[in-house]
Amino acid sequence: MSTTTTEKGERLARIVPEALSAVHEVLERHRVTEEEWHAVLAFLTDVGRADEFILLSDVTRTSVLIDAMSHGADESATASDVEGPLYVEDPPWREPPVKIYEEYEGSDAGEVLFVRGEVTSADGTPLTDAVIDIWQTGPTGGYDIWDERQPEFNFRGRFGVSESGGYEFQTMVPKPYTVPTDGPVGSYLAAVGQHPWRPAHIHFKVTAGGHEPLVTQVFFPDDPYLDNDTIGAVKAALVRPLERHDGGARGLDAPFSTCDFDIRLRPTG
Ligand code: BEZ
Ligand code: FE
Repeated sequence: MSTTTTEKGERLARIVPEALSAVHEVLERHRVTEEEWHAVLAFLTDVGRADEFILLSDVTRTSVLIDAMSHGADESATASDVEGPLYVEDPPWREPPVKIYEEYEGSDAGEVLFVRGEVTSADGTPLTDAVIDIWQTGPTGGYDIWDERQPEFNFRGRFGVSESGGYEFQTMVPKPYTVPTDGPVGSYLAAVGQHPWRPAHIHFKVTAGGHEPLVTQVFFPDDPYLDNDTIGAVKAALVRPLERHDGGARGLDAPFSTCDFDIRLRPTG
């Protein structure tokens, strides 16, 4: 829903005073001291300086709440999910056969994964102009931006679909990982006793003409953090089985996995 400048001003004038009243009520109920309040302000200052407000919104489950209110649970389209703070703008365009990574020191400990499916409109019509944008961790070391062994944009990339709306890309099975813990949000998690782990997942952004863009994530069964993701973003409809295959196919000596994930976009208007 797009809002005009006047509507935005009216929303601000209604919502901000109510939000502040709610904060004041909590401060009063707990008789919060000057020292404690100054510590809160210093924490928020640190969060801003460290560019961790999205992360704070995520770990406090605020992003999940906003996602649920913004996209609803309309089953004719693929469920949306939180974007998180680790998307990097302008990832490379990958031509078919799409492979979104280069091997790096230690990556041979991981397992190759082919993710495939169709991109359609809610009524099943193939969307042949769809563009898919993926980001995920490697099998070791987390995201490329944290791991010196990985080239820039490893396990990231954009690509188109086939003439029938189909797609397939080669990646590696991701692993559970912790959100960044070395900044102010990490101190907050430790202080409130919340663990920092996320279940393994692959992020998707999908766009096509005449359709609402979709931001989502795919998860895998049997992950130890499926029921207690630190950002609370797991949706049952987004948990997809991995099918295991023996080596000797697709030019691979080692066993590998496949995962099917069809994507349905909601028409605009
Ligand atoms: C992520 O999945 O990339 C992520 C989401 C929320 C906070 C930190 C990381
Ligand atoms: Fe992630």
